[in-house]
Amino acid sequence: MNTVQQLYHYCRTPHLGDVEEIVQINRLALPENYSMGYFIQLIKQWKDTSVVSIRNGKIIGYIICKVEKKSLIAFKRRNFPRGHIMSVAVHPEYRRQGIASEMMKFVLNRLKYIKNLKEVILEVRESNRSAIRLYQKFGFKKESVLKRYYIDGESANLMVLKKL
Ligand SMILES: CC(C)(COP(=O)(O)OP(=O)(O)OC[C@H]1O[C@@H](n2cnc3c(N)ncnc32)[C@H](O)[C@@H]1OP(=O)(O)O)[C@@H](O)C(=O)NCCC(=O)NCCS
Repeated sequence: MNTVQQLYHYCRTPHLGDVEEIVQINRLALPENYSMGYFIQLIKQWKDTSVVSIRNGKIIGYIICKVEKKSLIAFKRRNFPRGHIMSVAVHPEYRRQGIASEMMKFVLNRLKYIKNLKEVILEVRESNRSAIRLYQKFGFKKESVLKRYYIDGESANLMVLKKL
């Protein structure tokens, strides 16, 4: 990347004005297409642990991550909050340039400031080798398989990062 490109490339916290571009990238990149309303809700609530990547004034990628409170339900008791990465996408024209890695660093760094947060989880299609490699690079490990998790019947790997 040369100096001029670097000047116009950065990550920042998303805001509601970004939702349209986020939805466009989501539709280009993933079969899991949340509605505009759902993205608005996620960004309103979780902007501080989410990120967009900007190049030359345009959004080229995003990560939405929420924080789940501790759970007192008996069969899934958890005495600490955890991060849950909900959606990750990079515009197809900008892949393999380190954009997702940069955004992951941004989000994981934000999560470090949440008191007692001990782990981060995500679901990924079993067939999505590029995303699985990305997550492994950041220390995520497969914890279990969620059978027929997706609407088309594909299973998901539940991956967990234990050390932030
Ligand atoms: C997965 C995705 C987010 C990666 O974004 P990216 O900006 O291209 O990722 P990076 O350039 O930061 O790559 C980081 C690492 O991921 C892995 N990776 C990314 N793309 C890969 C590919 N096509 N094949 C193999 N490994 C790949 C590599 O380990 C890479 O590290 P390396 O470049 O040092 O080898 C992007 O391909 C994408 O948007 N895919 C469609 C949406 C999606 O699958 N989202 C995840 C749903 S759970």
